[in-house]
Amino acid sequence: MTTGDLKALTPTSFRRGNLPADAAADPAARVMVLDMQELMPGIQRLRDWTLAALAPQPGETAVDLGCGTGAEVRRLAALVGPAGRAVGIEPHAGLRTQAEARALAEGSTAVFVEGDAPALPFEDGTVDVIRSERVFQHLDDPAAAAREIARVLAPGGRVALVDSDWGSMVQSMGEPDVVRRLMDASFRRWTNPFAGRSLRWLLRRAGLVVDAEVGADAAVLPEEQLRVPVLLRNSIEHALADGAITVEEGDRLERDNIAGAERGEAFVAVMMFSVIGRSVDPAG
Ligand SMILES: C[S@@+](CC[C@H](N)C(=O)[O-])C[C@H]1O[C@@H](n2cnc3c(N)ncnc32)[C@H](O)[C@@H]1O
Repeated sequence: MTTGDLKALTPTSFRRGNLPADAAADPAARVMVLDMQELMPGIQRLRDWTLAALAPQPGETAVDLGCGTGAEVRRLAALVGPAGRAVGIEPHAGLRTQAEARALAEGSTAVFVEGDAPALPFEDGTVDVIRSERVFQHLDDPAAAAREIARVLAPGGRVALVDSDWGSMVQSMGEPDVVRRLMDASFRRWTNPFAGRSLRWLLRRAGLVVDAEVGADAAVLPEEQLRVPVLLRNSIEHALADGAITVEEGDRLERDNIAGAERGEAFVAVMMFSVIGRSVDPAG
């Protein structure tokens, strides 16, 4: 895997409809990005918080919607035990194969199936726990996906939607006006860049009861990645294609970031939120 492979990734590379279009980057670059993200302490903390809030019990059916390489499905499988069922829904065949291989290597009982958020492969009221992390930012119709989650949740079921909100991104280097135009250009390509702020409302509109406490943490880019800003160059190219910045502005932004990273001044982070919803239990 070289940094060159990452260049093929865009803000919409994880969108279901775009999966085959990026065949050149498929699936190694996506696996690499997900593995890098998984190591971020903010993501690990928010995953732990989310799992504790969902509290999967032995014997329950637990689902990770848009599970990527399946790390959280393996954790769910360990908690629901042999009497339960942990299912990862993943539309991307390459990621699904990777998830299956990792589960097999760990001796996990997690299973993985093809699926699409607005049409989950479960009967009404049959799933106890659902989590979906950094998926809603890629969905064309997040409200339909939230309704679908509410449909399959069993009485007493719990759901966690975890997502970034790219409007919260902070970047220490570069001229603020150029950074703003770069981000605006990127938002235009993104399916749902402000997913994080919409999660609570989506679950409520789907008829679920939402916990008052919201989990929050930041994905902070590791400093070694800031020294080789491949994804920044990628965004610059897109902003140039949109006419949002000039070649000089893009080159200066890249130089400023590399120099800032060398001096230890560069800092890039985005907030993520975890919202817990519960189905209304008619029994009480
Ligand atoms: C940024 S990745 C996050 C993967 C994983 N949840 C994690 O936290 O590492 C987004 C995931 O959503 C999946 N995805 C995209 N569109 C989807 C859809 N319509 N239904 C289900 N999953 C989808 C992608 O294939 C990808 O695995």
